[in-house]
Amino acid sequence: MKRWMLALMLATAAVAADRKNLPWERPTTRLLHGQDLYREHCVVCHDIEGKTTKKPGPSLHHLFKNPKLPLSVGKPSREYVEVKIKFGGDFMPPFVKRMNDAEIGALVDYLETK
Ligand code: HEC
Repeated sequence: MKRWMLALMLATAAVAADRKNLPWERPTTRLLHGQDLYREHCVVCHDIEGKTTKKPGPSLHHLFKNPKLPLSVGKPSREYVEVKIKFGGDFMPPFVKRMNDAEIGALVDYLETK
């Protein structure tokens, strides 16, 4: 292979890595995957940026950073949140048939960063 071909390949890869904002070229990291899942399944009912919310569910802002869950007495734990996502609640739908364990794991990783 000629040297210029290698240089061209490296340059193309660098440009591709740089353009993060185009959805079809976004690097599919775990957290971005989690964010996509949040937007697909949760954002209709849960805000994540601020404490106050007009949506039916409590805000998930600082879900894991607060000492308590917004509606439950318990300390936030991954297990609790994963069970909640899988089986829902009185007003929250279950997602066990719409996401697999790996997807729920990526989603909870994302929630932990907020
Ligand atoms: C149709 C609206 C709706 C959708 C969609 C929804 N939720 Fe909920 N969620 C609620 C409501 C309402 C509550 C509180 C009452 C209840 O538990 O049913 C709740 C409660 C919760 C709780 C428990 C809070 C606590 O203090 O115990 C968590 C965590 C949660 N939701 C996360 C999620 C995540 C993550 C998703 C996306 C996979 C999601 N929810 C999708 C409506 C929704």
